[in-house]
Amino acid sequence: MSQLHLINHPMIQHKLTIMRDKETGSKDFRQLLKEISLLMGYEVTRDIPLDEIEIETPICRMTAKQVSGRKLAIVPILRAGLGMVEGLLELVPVAKVGHIGLYRNEETHMPVEYFCKLPEDIDDRLVIVTDPMLATGGSACDALAALKKRGCTNARLMCLVGVPEGVERVQREHPDVDIYLAALDSHLNEAAYIVPGLGDAGDRIFGTK
Ligand code: PRP
Ligand code: URA
Repeated sequence: MSQLHLINHPMIQHKLTIMRDKETGSKDFRQLLKEISLLMGYEVTRDIPLDEIEIETPICRMTAKQVSGRKLAIVPILRAGLGMVEGLLELVPVAKVGHIGLYRNEETHMPVEYFCKLPEDIDDRLVIVTDPMLATGGSACDALAALKKRGCTNARLMCLVGVPEGVERVQREHPDVDIYLAALDSHLNEAAYIVPGLGDAGDRIFGTK
């Protein structure tokens, strides 16, 4: 069974509160999402493999640790997942970035895939799938299925805000994928929006509403 990691560090909670506030504009919303993504990245990458390399300090030679960064891929679910890429790239600059385009049909709330471009060696990488919102879980499950269809065997899902139904759906359909959240909210409303949530993440990032 996949694990749910709730990363409720005080700095993350503080920044998330500002993001939730409806008075917060796109510029600050984007900046805060980037900052939280970097902070969450510490936990998401906590156990990634290290290589040993030989270096020389000013004092002597030593065997030192180095992240196998080339083995990592970040795959945002378009659009809103894009807002989490920059923060993660600051942490792991050599990671490759793939993209999966999904949007939720506004009436059925079902995700529709419109784009997929991944690093060629996706089967050889730990993939961090990013999306700020885990609502019904449909988009995340479809994105993970699309990745697996193309050879991915090692993925983690990093979201900002989720609800129990979304978490349970991912755990049911993708028991091999750990989920990382900054907050587990109460429930979905009749339009499948997270309550209390932060509204439409894509629109708030890109100022489209
Ligand atoms: C939002 C969000 C997730 C999805 C979550 O994207 O960024 O991808 O909804 O909902 P779900 O868990 O019920 O599938 P949206 O479809 O609004 O597209 P956008 O990112 O282009 O705004
Ligand atoms: N997508 C969003 O952007 N926000 C929600 O609350 C649910 C889905």
